[in-house]
Amino acid sequence: MEILRKPEEMTAWSKRAAREGKTIGFVPTMGALHEGHMSLIRRARKENDVVVVSIFVNPTQFGPGEDYDRYPRCFEKDAKMCEAERVDAVFHPAAEDMYPEDHRTFVEVCELSNRLCGISRPGHFRGVTTVVAKLFGIVRPDRAYFGMKDAQQLVIIERMNRDLCMGVQIVRCETVREPDGLAMSSRNTYLSAAERKQALAISRALKECEARFDAGERKTMPLLKVMGDILAREPDIEVDYIAVADPITLDDISTIENEALAAIAVYIGKTRLIDNVTLRPKKG
Ligand code: PAF
Repeated sequence: MEILRKPEEMTAWSKRAAREGKTIGFVPTMGALHEGHMSLIRRARKENDVVVVSIFVNPTQFGPGEDYDRYPRCFEKDAKMCEAERVDAVFHPAAEDMYPEDHRTFVEVCELSNRLCGISRPGHFRGVTTVVAKLFGIVRPDRAYFGMKDAQQLVIIERMNRDLCMGVQIVRCETVREPDGLAMSSRNTYLSAAERKQALAISRALKECEARFDAGERKTMPLLKVMGDILAREPDIEVDYIAVADPITLDDISTIENEALAAIAVYIGKTRLIDNVTLRPKKG
């Protein structure tokens, strides 16, 4: 497995692979890899000739007062995990090489970036789309793999990829959960045992929402209420938002015609956690 730190080295590596007729599967990450990332890597491994993983804690997607400084960084461990999954190259750039002094270009997907998480994290998705656009330019993948836990991020990246004709196949991958239901996230490591227990209310609320939807509920008010009631029982949970939204526009909806995205963001102590489920009528 190669570890490449300079963007131009990464691009040269990818060009060589493309010249040899190899397809490139790409998994962009900020490191602190867990089973969720591993499932993306395994899928990329199955569907491509070579696999590239980027490990870069992207400063432009963190707002003032957010956890950029304390975000877990454990490159040696991450690299070993990549090697065990037969990753071909890890791209691990320095912030100065991604954002030199005279960097002036940002990519923003309008409207979608200001909904849901974008309300309490202004500028966050602009940072995400900027770095993903740069990573796509550097790595030049055929396919890129993203987890559904970050559903809004995925919708926004799909739109950027389409609007800017980037030509990458974006592959949606299911959220990976701990056996007790907690969605895997690098930020789970911040939680104390007591906080982690309370965090289970998030997946419980989404599950209950899904059960009511499956039982025929199509009005979003009762779905929002049931999720709110479950979260309200936990003393240390502060709700950022609970939403049932159109899965393409991310606008709140009052009646579900077909599919919808039920999404939750909460603070538990200083930790912000998100999760979601897609509400989709069962076939047959
Ligand atoms: O989902 C993440 O880990 C990050 O937002 C991403 C896509 C790697 C961009 O920094």
